[in-house]
Amino acid sequence: MLAETEILAKAKATHTLAKEEIIALLSLPDARALFQAADEVRRQFVGDEVYLRGLIEFSNYCKNDCMYCGIRRSNTCAKRYRLSPQEIVTLAQKAAGYGYKTVVLQSGEDLWFSADKMADIVRQIKKMGLAVTLSIGEKTREEYALYRKAGADRYLLRIETTDKALYEKLDPQMSWDNRARCLTDLKELGYEVGSGSLVGLPGQTITSLADDLLFFKQLPVDMAGIGPFIPHPHTPLANNTTNGHFELALKMMAVMRLLLPDINIPATTAMETLHPQGRILALQSGANVVMPNVTEGEPRKMYELYPGKICTGDTPQKCRYCIAGKIESIGRTVQMSYGFHGEYLRNKNAASTPKNK
Ligand code: 5AD
Ligand code: FES
Repeated sequence: MLAETEILAKAKATHTLAKEEIIALLSLPDARALFQAADEVRRQFVGDEVYLRGLIEFSNYCKNDCMYCGIRRSNTCAKRYRLSPQEIVTLAQKAAGYGYKTVVLQSGEDLWFSADKMADIVRQIKKMGLAVTLSIGEKTREEYALYRKAGADRYLLRIETTDKALYEKLDPQMSWDNRARCLTDLKELGYEVGSGSLVGLPGQTITSLADDLLFFKQLPVDMAGIGPFIPHPHTPLANNTTNGHFELALKMMAVMRLLLPDINIPATTAMETLHPQGRILALQSGANVVMPNVTEGEPRKMYELYPGKICTGDTPQKCRYCIAGKIESIGRTVQMSYGFHGEYLRNKNAASTPKNK
C-alpha cells in the first residue's frame, strides 16, 4: 500500500486509483494535501473559470418517499407548489437576462408534468439560446429521448449511493437497477450526464463511498455533485447528525477531481448550509461550477429538501452578484459560457494550435 504522498502523485499522473487507495484518501485525518492536489488538477484541466447555472426549482410535488428528503410524499407538513409552464419559461427568460447561459430545471417526481408538457417547456427555453439541464428524476428511455429531441442538453440524476441495499432501504419502492439504467440510457441518448452522491447517510461506509467514485469513473459522468446529508426534521431520519459530513463530502469531491480531471463539479448549496464558506472551500478543493437559485418568491423557500438551505430569503439578482463577488475574492473568474464538459481544454488547445496559412 502506497503512502499518502505517493497515492496523490499517482492520482495526479494517472487519474486512476485502486479502491484501497481511494479509501486511504477518504480516511485521511488531515486532508490538506489532498485538497491542494485536487485544486492543482482542477486548475490544469478546467482552469480558473467558474461556470454559473441558473437553477429553477419548479415543483416540490414528489411521488417518491425517500427517507432523507424533505419533499417526500409522506411529509404532510411540506407546503406544496407547482409553477405553471409559463412561469417556468418566464423564469428562464429572466435567468438569460442575468447572463446565465444554462438553466437547470429541477423538481420532485411530479406526474402533472407529462413528457409532452416537459418537452414543450424545453423547446420554448431552447429558443432563447440557453443550454437546458433537466433534473426531474427517473423516466423511461422514451421520455428521455423525447426531451433530448426537444433540445435538452444535460441531465442530472444522482445515484445517491452505490450501496444497493442501503439505497433500497432509504428509497422505498425504488430500484437501484432502474436508477443505474436511467444513467446508461441518458448517456446513450447523448446527454451530458451528471450524477453524484449523498455523503453521511446512516449506514453508509467509506468503502461504499469509494465504490461511488469508481462508479462515476466507469460510467463515466460528465458532471457530479456531492452533497452532505442534512437531516430534515419531518423525515424518518430526523434524529441523525451532520457530524463530519462536510469534511467527508469535501474529500469525496477532491478525490473525484483527481479521478475525473476535466468533469464539471458543482460547489453544492448543501455544502454552504453546513459551513459558512462551504462553496468557496469546495471551489478550492476541486469544484468549478456554482448553481445559483433563480426561483422567485415563496417557492424559493418551499423547495426544502433539507433544513437551513441558504439564500432562500434573497432575490435571484442578489445571488447572481453575491456569488460573483465570492468567486472573484479567491482569484477566480465567472465564465458566462455554456460550460460544456471539456470546453476549457478545447478552447486552450484551439488557441495554442497555429492556424494553417
Ligand atoms: N440533505 C442533503 N441533500 C439532500 N437531497 C435530498 N435530501 C437531502 C438532504 N436531506 C439531495 C439528493 C437529491 C438532490 C436533488 O438533493 O441527493 O438528488
Ligand atoms: Fe445567494 Fe450569496 S449566493 S445570497
